[in-house]
Amino acid sequence: MKTEAKLLHGDCLVEMQNIANNSIDLCVTSPPYDNLRTYNGNLEWCFDSIAKQIVRIIADGGVIVWVVGDATINGSETGSSFRQALRFMELGLNLHDTMIYMKDAIAFPMHTRYNQCFEYMFVLSKGKPKTINIIKDRKNVSYGRKVTGTERQSDGATKKAACHGAAIKEYGSRWNVWQISTDKGNVKYDHPAKFPISLAKDHIESWSNKGDVVIDPFMGSGTTGVACANTDRNFIGIEIDKDYFNIAKTRINGDNCEAYHGIGGDDAEISESGAAIRRAIVKAAAEIGKNK
Ligand SMILES: C[S@@+](CC[C@H](N)C(=O)[O-])C[C@H]1O[C@@H](n2cnc3c(N)ncnc32)[C@H](O)[C@@H]1O
Repeated sequence: MKTEAKLLHGDCLVEMQNIANNSIDLCVTSPPYDNLRTYNGNLEWCFDSIAKQIVRIIADGGVIVWVVGDATINGSETGSSFRQALRFMELGLNLHDTMIYMKDAIAFPMHTRYNQCFEYMFVLSKGKPKTINIIKDRKNVSYGRKVTGTERQSDGATKKAACHGAAIKEYGSRWNVWQISTDKGNVKYDHPAKFPISLAKDHIESWSNKGDVVIDPFMGSGTTGVACANTDRNFIGIEIDKDYFNIAKTRINGDNCEAYHGIGGDDAEISESGAAIRRAIVKAAAEIGKNK
């Protein structure tokens, strides 16, 4: 399937104002959190205004995957991650699933607390998610046997489970803690906080369909865009830093890019086949103003 990428160099708060209400199927992003990284000096961002823009542009039934952790300041974790998830709920989203991205390596060893090895992946939805493709790749330890369980009744009695006697399948639904390699061996690009391509790809396949429009307002080195190209989704990426923006361009649209399906289109102009993105990016100031 021919898909498109539209890469925007700028502040996502400004750029998202050109995106129509309810036009984006999925947002997979990792914002700058607390002061853990300096991102060439681009630390100033206003969570509340940006959150409102993301909520405005996400379609009914669309999903936001918000990958975030907390800094430890003056001996205490900041709790920004929780505050942001709760604020999205106040803005009307469902907290569909609080998931964990568990890393296979740590940044540095801790001496006063356990080593920090995870980030949150808050899966938020505007109403009931319209697309749910649960990945079933967890090997069942009881594969080959039959279901023998019982179900507890409201009066405390037990009875045979409805599926009693059914053959246990080889693979079951994945659980919501994802242990993912940090791609350390593959680091070719100079960005301090890339997330793994498989993290983006698995969320994209879980919460969207081929041909859908996915956005990453904090695009960084473009990992979500590479995963979109490789899974036939259209992509809008916004990055404030010119160096990181250029890395994303190379990864998604450049010669020898990582996008093995070869995403079509030019990063400056949307070509004829990019209808889905054309519908999303409009100068619709009046419409946008309504939900501000
Ligand atoms: C955690 S990194 C994202 C990394 C990305 N997921 C990847 O795999 O490369 C956050 C990015 O947001 C960018 N950023 C910070 N403020 C921004 C803003 N207002 N608009 C757009 N990008 C911004 C930073 O420059 C940084 O590259």
